[in-house]
Amino acid sequence: MNTKEQIEKIKNDLEAKTQNLDNMKDLNDLRVEFLGKKGVVTNLSSIMKELPLEEKKDFGKTLNELRNYVEETLTTLKEEIETRELNKRLEKESVDVTLPGTKLNVGSIHPITKIINEVEDLFISMGYDVEEGPEVENDLYNFEMLNLPAGHPARDAQDSFYINEEMLLRSQTSPVQVRTMLKNKEKSPIRIICPGKVYRKDNDDATHSHEFHQIEGLVVDRNISMNHLKGTLEILAKSLFGENKEVRFRPSFFPFTEPSVEVDLTCFKCGGKGCNICKGTGWIEVLGAGMVHPNVLKGCGYDPKIYTGFAFGVGVERIAMLKYEISDIREFYTNNMKFLEQFNVYEGGDTNESK
Ligand code: DAH
Repeated sequence: MNTKEQIEKIKNDLEAKTQNLDNMKDLNDLRVEFLGKKGVVTNLSSIMKELPLEEKKDFGKTLNELRNYVEETLTTLKEEIETRELNKRLEKESVDVTLPGTKLNVGSIHPITKIINEVEDLFISMGYDVEEGPEVENDLYNFEMLNLPAGHPARDAQDSFYINEEMLLRSQTSPVQVRTMLKNKEKSPIRIICPGKVYRKDNDDATHSHEFHQIEGLVVDRNISMNHLKGTLEILAKSLFGENKEVRFRPSFFPFTEPSVEVDLTCFKCGGKGCNICKGTGWIEVLGAGMVHPNVLKGCGYDPKIYTGFAFGVGVERIAMLKYEISDIREFYTNNMKFLEQFNVYEGGDTNESK
């Protein structure tokens, strides 16, 4: 083989060997095979010293061209392999930002909080504000200005935890009514609900707790009638317990409303036919309500000839117990995980999938 043929063969060899080459290791081996100390190109240069002087120059040039050619071929291939490997890696590591995130198990919403949130959402959608008041309350707001003067027999049921002569743990959320009316100097329409904790000297048993939650509602404006109260409570009942629920008013007594009513709701279990939950009556008592007493309006600076209002107070535990069929109120306060996990549902109905 003359040198020309040898060079041709090396080129063909290189071409054949790079054809299916697809990784860096093989490429490095190939570089050693062709350009290494004992590589084919290097070997060829050893012929040089045997050549006559006049051919040496040409051969040197040809050899350089060959070396450059091999270099270039291997470099191009190296770049191709690198790009291919990078793309492969990127493909593997790519993040689909449209996939939903992994949900973390962050616990569950307490059933009492769930009911409060539900009722708040409903009333906010009807234009109400959510008000809060202090849990350590003045006797004046908790009783006196709600038409329960000192010595009034209706105080007995709620006379409870006094801090001193004047201050007590509020026994109801109704004092927030007084606070809101007193605050409203310009007598603009009031539409509020006030959720919160209340305290009484009840013996703790399956249906009583010395500490529980209420949601108070108050609307004061011109021309507010009992119709508004009934319509509003019907909406509340349907929202909590589903359609086809009716509310029934029974005469009752609260010092701060006149007339006062106990409000019953069609039994959600039997739909009114009578069952063990409604004790055969078809109705379940859910809350107290009435038209704000003129004395309360007057005491808060409202002329009862111009302004009227309705109010209601609902026990949150009672609603939760009815809605979720919980038979012992103490379940709400004992942090039993098995109980709480049953409410492991995010607001908005999304279930916790990471469990
Ligand atoms: N405060 C009453 C209670 O704790 C509940 C109540 C009844 C609130 C009638 C009201 C109402 O606003 O109008 O027993």
